[in-house]
Amino acid sequence: MTLVVLLGAPGAGKGTQAAVLQDRLGIPHIATGDLFRAAIREATPVGLEARSYMDAGQLVPDGVTIRMLEERLGRPDAAAGAILDGFPRTAVQAASLDSFLAGRGSRIDAALLIDVPPDALVERLSGRWICQFAGHVYHVDMNRSRVAGICDLDGSPLVQRADDQPETIRARLVSQLDDLQAVVDHYRATGALRTINGLRPIRDVSAGLLEALGVEPVRTA
Ligand code: AP5
Repeated sequence: MTLVVLLGAPGAGKGTQAAVLQDRLGIPHIATGDLFRAAIREATPVGLEARSYMDAGQLVPDGVTIRMLEERLGRPDAAAGAILDGFPRTAVQAASLDSFLAGRGSRIDAALLIDVPPDALVERLSGRWICQFAGHVYHVDMNRSRVAGICDLDGSPLVQRADDQPETIRARLVSQLDDLQAVVDHYRATGALRTINGLRPIRDVSAGLLEALGVEPVRTA
């Protein structure tokens, strides 16, 4: 079982890089933000609870988030492992994940911090567009689709996330960075933390992450 945690501030590039790691490692990319957005679309009780927190740029309470993540990790496609994007996000979530995994005779293999300074995060989030069908990630300047407004991978229209409006971006950065630091400290203490400079082109960040995992960047025949 391979369990990788991707850490980083909002907009650091976790989703972008998780897609690369998913292809390379052959294990699913599990993003709590995506799970919440799906729950909101389906108007489930979890979605109804999460919505007000997400709209305000705040973290959803630990209890509902932990239950949702544990349920997702219990599905068959995660039996060989997963890349966790956006979880854990608080010290409580990190401790609960350790206990959950210990109960299954497992543990985190690596916690990879994509390190990007706050100034660059605002630019990344305000220029982000995602595809309506599968959430593939683009940027108006730094990661353009081949045809403006259309996803390269599935042809669906590109849209902006509700929480990528300037006011919510600021709220997310103000309210979430302290919690991120607590999670970083947790994994530094366990010895699982690896820090990767995220202020480089996407391909170079991918190479840094794979190197930290001891994996070759490109498959050889
Ligand atoms: P979530 O969906 O996890 O959002 P986030 O953490 O704010 O992270 P983002 O998805 O915004 O950014 P990212 O790091 O994935 O960056 P991306 O690859 O898209 O969470 C949303 C909300 O859900 C939270 O605010 C909270 O309310 C709730 N939530 C989720 N998980 C929770 C939890 N565990 N506990 C409680 N609440 C939870 O890249 C950003 C942009 O930059 C893109 O345009 C991309 O093209 C571009 N880019 C990426 N890499 C580079 C690069 N190297 N150079 C230039 N541009 C780049």
